[in-house]
Parts: sequence; structure tokens; C-alpha cells
Amino acid sequence: MSDARQREAGATAAAVVGGTSADGARGAFLRAEGVSRTYRLGRVEVPVLRRADLSVRRGEFAAIMGKSGSGKSTLLHVLGALDEPQEGQVLVDGEPVYAPVGRRSYRARALDVLSVHERRRNRLRRNTFGFVFQFYHLLPELTVFENVLVTEMVRTGVLRWPTARGEARRRVAAELERVGLSHRLSHRPNELSGGERQRVAIARALVHRPSVLLADEPTGNLDATSGAAIMAIFQALHAAGQTIVMVTHDATVAACADRVLHLDDGRLAAK
Ligand SMILES: Nc1ncnc2c1ncn2[C@@H]1O[C@H](COP(=O)(O)OP(=O)(O)OP(=O)(O)O)[C@@H](O)[C@H]1O
Ligand SMILES: [Mg+2]
Repeated sequence: MSDARQREAGATAAAVVGGTSADGARGAFLRAEGVSRTYRLGRVEVPVLRRADLSVRRGEFAAIMGKSGSGKSTLLHVLGALDEPQEGQVLVDGEPVYAPVGRRSYRARALDVLSVHERRRNRLRRNTFGFVFQFYHLLPELTVFENVLVTEMVRTGVLRWPTARGEARRRVAAELERVGLSHRLSHRPNELSGGERQRVAIARALVHRPSVLLADEPTGNLDATSGAAIMAIFQALHAAGQTIVMVTHDATVAACADRVLHLDDGRLAAK
């Protein structure tokens, strides 16, 4: 286990010992408080999240279920600093992800481009979260290795890349080995099975050691065997202390998590 993962596992143990209940604010690492997200289509308003709350402990594996269109992807984007809610706040280790409610207008955001809020949100997106999507979103012209490496290149920046490249290549190779793809490094995405593509996406999401892995239907496009292989990876990550929030339609997949929540009418509840 790497130092980072050992620290994460140690923190998990501390959180479990020192935390309160699964929903207790004290043990929460990722927390959504009263988040509302409404889409506006012309004059029509589509309320999707309605003052939804969620608390995830460090090291916890939480699954979110809900019918199609219930807002699961929207919630994941709001949790991962990708989509600002109109109301409420998301906190990572007590740190707010979004600007205070009064400063979320288009105009405030435009003025806020280089502000502390925007920079913090960018930093969280880049360093704290790792995303896995149902349809992989790999770059077709790049090899497996390059697909993972390019995200590290972007994260590191052009100026620091020459000195960071060697270490980044080692981490990319290690991450692809972890997901069992060392024998496919030179393949392009269209030369891989769906399950293999998703494993590349998982390696890409993990290479920067995110505090939270957010996965949107990671097995939604896979057959049962490939889906089971993906869930075995998630369970190994969870055992090593990775915090995971996963959206799924599949009750068998959800059963791999510590806790299953249902999104219904814009709010989350345990069932
Ligand atoms: N950009 C958008 N503009 C307008 N409405 C949207 C937008 N994105 C999503 N919606 C609507 O918001 C609702 C929730 O969408 P979301 O994608 O979060 O649902 P979901 O639970 O992930 O569904 P699925 O299980 O099918 O992936 C849907 O009714 C959808 O039509
Ligand atoms: Mg969705």
C-alpha cells in the first residue's frame, strides 16, 4: 500500500472510531446540506434536487439509487464541484465547495473568476475528486497508457511537466496494473472491451489519489461478468480506505456498498 493510501486508511480508522453515526456531522467527510438544483428550460422550471442532504464518512462506500430522471447524475455533479446548486452547500472535510448562496449569480461568477471560491472549486475538482462515468469518456486517438497520462499532464501543467513526468509515468503504470490492464497499455479504446474501457477510466480517476471517487453507473453499460470485475475493484479500493459515492440502477451492485440511499422527489433517504 502506498503512503497516501496508508494515510487514508489510517484516517478512515480514526473516523470510524472517532465518528458518530453514518449520518453524524462529526464523522462526515463529504456533506451536502440542503442542496437544490433546478434546471430552467425557457420559462419552464424543472426542480431536480429539493433541499437534499447527504453525509459520507471518510472511507465509506455509499450507493445512490433512484429511478431514471430522479436526479442521480445531477447530485453527483453537485457533490463533485461540477455543477453549482442554487441553494445549499457541499462541504469537503468542512471546507465549502461553492461560493456563499448570494454570490452564485452569473454576474457574481463572472467577477469571481479568479476569486478564492473559483480557485478552491478548481482545486477540489482537480485534486480531491475522481470521476468515473457510465460511457467512459476516453480519448479514442490515444492509447490506454496515454489516456491516463494525459490527465496527469493537464493536472501538472506545462511548466512542471518535464520534472514531474517520470513519477507520473510510474503512477500511471501502477494504476493500470491495479486494474489488471498492464497487458493492454498500447491498445486504443476501440480495441478494448467495455469492461476494459471502464477499467481505464477507473485508473484515470484514481491516478491523482483523489479523496473521493464519484462513480455514475460504472457498470451500467456492462455485462454481468465485466460488471462484477468492476465491483471487485471498487471493493478492493474500499478495503484500502477509498471513499466512494456510486450511483447505480442495479440493486446487486448497490449491495456492495456500506449504505444504500434512494433519491426520490429530490431528496435522499435510506430505505
Ligand atoms: N442540462 C439540463 N437541462 C435541463 N434539464 C436537465 C438537464 N440535465 C438533466 N435535466 C433533467 O433533470 C432530471 C434529472 O436528470 P439526471 O440526469 O440527474 O437524472 P438521473 O437520475 O441521472 O437519470 P438516469 O438514471 O436516466 O441517468 C431529468 O428529468 C432531466 O431531464
Ligand atoms: Mg444519470
